[in-house]
Amino acid sequence: MKKLNINIEISEYDNISELLLEDINLIETAKDASERSYSPYSEFSVGAAVLLENGIVVDGNNQENAAYPSGLCAERVALFYANSKYPEISVKTIAIVVKQNNKFKKTPLPPCGSCRQALMETEMRFKTPIKVIMAGEDKVQIIHSISDLLPLSFTSDFLKTD
Ligand code: THU
Repeated sequence: MKKLNINIEISEYDNISELLLEDINLIETAKDASERSYSPYSEFSVGAAVLLENGIVVDGNNQENAAYPSGLCAERVALFYANSKYPEISVKTIAIVVKQNNKFKKTPLPPCGSCRQALMETEMRFKTPIKVIMAGEDKVQIIHSISDLLPLSFTSDFLKTD
């Protein structure tokens, strides 16, 4: 028996001004998107903004439904729209924010498991790491590849026959 350890690198910032301008702008776009969230059930308004390799930004927000599981997270709304509209363009970065009780949350929001899986598919598809910016008001965390947020992930490689 042997034990394996997995290390992931998280860049943590106490002040948004330390970030690249490109990342600051993406967070602002995610914030704007969160304002248009349809989340009457959770009252948890998530905004996501995806920066594509060609500089185009696509945003999205969580869309809820009275039949709860029919709703979709902000990250996948933005990502799927980006992939459907620009199927040839790789995804460089995604920024995620949350607004609750009329204020942006202090702590960063890590994407849910299903969103990580969807982001992983896109990262593998374009063979380009996706940077994930989780932006809280008091702290911003950046992961430099979605694979760091989904170790031992299930990918299309496993569908191949031995
Ligand atoms: N949600 C997101 O949009 N992204 C996440 O990463 C976590 C959760 C949404 C789903 C639901 O509309 C609300 O937040 C509460 O879970």
